Amino acid sequence: MTKGVDEIINKVELMFESGKTDAVNLLKTDHRKVEMLINEFLASDGNKKALMNKIIEELSIHASVEEDLVYPILENSDKDKVVQGADEAEEEHHVLKMALADLAAADASPRKLKAKMMVVRDLVKHHVKEEESKLLPELKKTDTDLELLGQQIRARKEQLKRRVKTSAIGKNKDRTKLATTSRSKNVGASKGKTRTRKSKTATSTRKAYKRTGRGNKRAA
Ligand SMILES: [Fe+2]
Repeated sequence: MTKGVDEIINKVELMFESGKTDAVNLLKTDHRKVEMLINEFLASDGNKKALMNKIIEELSIHASVEEDLVYPILENSDKDKVVQGADEAEEEHHVLKMALADLAAADASPRKLKAKMMVVRDLVKHHVKEEESKLLPELKKTDTDLELLGQQIRARKEQLKRRVKTSAIGKNKDRTKLATTSRSKNVGASKGKTRTRKSKTATSTRKAYKRTGRGNKRAA
């Protein structure tokens, strides 16, 4: 029998947080949480609407937080491979958001929904591998205060969760909207245009890091 969504979330948070609140640990906790939710979804034969909504919400918020608060630091690196890795991760978020929007909008049979969720699972698997083996280790090498960044991530997540709960828009539509806001909404835009149209939060984060000299400076 499928466990309740809250039970799964609580269990994962207890397993991975253990009092640690730094940014890297929080992002890894998100990854474990979503992996477990997706596995539960795929294993269940019952009503999976609540699980699907939770997966969409968690992944959308995770992607927004990374784009607004984490990738700007990596994009300020003086290592080309790190900048390229952050750029690729952002583009992959775009693909993931499209898959989530498709899932949220789907009026599909359980079989088709499962197929769509398997695509999301594969995208998440690739995202987790790239981040945990490459990007997060690079984030640790910068002089970023990971505890402070962790606090910012928590605050931003709470803000986004409140937005989902208090929105007057229908729940699925709101989750889809959340998935397509932030930096990856520029479908088909050229790279230059994409950069100039990134969210205000992301831009201000990047400027703040450049101003304070935190992180490795890419440009002179
Ligand atoms: Fe991530």
